[in-house]
Amino acid sequence: MIPGFLVYFLVGSLLIDVHGVPVEVVVDNPANLVCKEENESNEQVLWYKTKPEKLLSTSLNVLGPYKNRMHVKSPYPGEWVLVIKRVEVTDAGGYICKVSGSVMAEIDLVVQTPPTIHQTNDMTFNEGDTGIVWCNATGFPTPNIRWYSKPPHQEDGIGHYTGAEGNKLVLHNITRYYDNIYGCEATNAAGNVFAETRIHVNFGPEVDILGENVTAVIGEEVTLHCVIAAYPMDGVGEWAFQNRSEPIEYSWKYNVVPDPELKTDFNTLIVSLTIRFGALGNQDYGQYVCRTKNFSRGYSDKVVVIQSN
Ligand SMILES: *[C@@H]1O[C@H](CO)[C@@H](O)[C@H](O)[C@H]1NC(C)=O
Ligand SMILES: *[C@@H]1O[C@H](CO)[C@@H](O)[C@H](O)[C@H]1NC(C)=O
Ligand SMILES: *[C@@H]1O[C@H](CO)[C@@H](O)[C@H](O)[C@H]1NC(C)=O
Ligand SMILES: *[C@@H]1O[C@H](CO)[C@@H](O)[C@H](O)[C@H]1NC(C)=O
Ligand SMILES: *[C@@H]1O[C@H](CO)[C@@H](O)[C@H](O)[C@H]1NC(C)=O
Ligand SMILES: *[C@@H]1O[C@H](CO)[C@@H](O)[C@H](O)[C@H]1NC(C)=O
Repeated sequence: MIPGFLVYFLVGSLLIDVHGVPVEVVVDNPANLVCKEENESNEQVLWYKTKPEKLLSTSLNVLGPYKNRMHVKSPYPGEWVLVIKRVEVTDAGGYICKVSGSVMAEIDLVVQTPPTIHQTNDMTFNEGDTGIVWCNATGFPTPNIRWYSKPPHQEDGIGHYTGAEGNKLVLHNITRYYDNIYGCEATNAAGNVFAETRIHVNFGPEVDILGENVTAVIGEEVTLHCVIAAYPMDGVGEWAFQNRSEPIEYSWKYNVVPDPELKTDFNTLIVSLTIRFGALGNQDYGQYVCRTKNFSRGYSDKVVVIQSN
């Protein structure tokens, strides 16, 4: 077994072509690059950036173009520290310090950047599809990505870990129950960030009656509940007596209440019909049809019967 830190070091070396001592700094933070003279001489200490080689400083003097961002300090005799006040991504690379032509220090500055996720919008699939959700993140080192999921009505928390990792979440054989909020968390040594995507799945409309056929006496108040499940929820639900073309309207006799509360989070619309106390007459026994109207994906209905004893 190769110890983990060694693997990290070897892989890191291959990736960033390290010759010198690696110094890792998170972008926008200060970097201190240390040069120790073997012998305290009166010679000038020169800092260079490599590839291409550019002179940055001589002893305590930083050259013009770098003056605002860098300075050199000598806290101890023979020690010369090049300080970059706020490291930029383009500062990454090799630095060398020379005295009388001899290299005293060779440093590879590694600039880490925290992850950024390129936000993906809500996505819609059909049942049976295989769906791919992306979480493309930039940052250095390359961020690790983990996927979480939670139901649409859950506002707090990141949900439960799905076990999936990487920038691609593949959903096989999608069903309506895949309508969830999928969260991805991108993490690297410089930080972490989280983003969410809602998945919608086209289905329905499907109509269901809550409860059984009703037996009622004249004048009794009766309430019928109808549940419409669909995505998209782009139509309405209505009740019709004996499936007449004219739907039942709100009146002294009927109370019709569409309840959209569960629409967004549960793709469900409940439409309740109440025949008010005292209003049920002989002519009102029969079939009540709950039906959909104007849904882009089709039509559905169900019947419930109000019968006398
Ligand atoms: C430093 O001093 C030692 C002993 O005087 C000498 O051997 C060595 O070459 C010197 N090193 C440099 C880089 O001048
Ligand atoms: C994410 O990156 C992959 C390549 O790794 C690319 O195919 C895909 O289109 C990207 N997705 C988005 C939403 O940017
Ligand atoms: C996909 O779902 C259908 C219907 O539930 C099922 O018959 C089929 O075996 C599933 N296929 C896979 C690959 O899971
Ligand atoms: C309601 O009554 C109708 C007609 O009598 C019948 O066809 C249907 O099966 C009944 N439904 C239930 C849920 O009992
Ligand atoms: C109700 O009427 C619609 C439109 O005429 C028809 O498509 C549907 O099958 C009818 N439903 C019932 C339960 O009679
Ligand atoms: C249903 O659609 C028709 C024609 O497209 C339109 O005139 C009507 O206003 C719609 N009804 C509802 C309740 O949205």
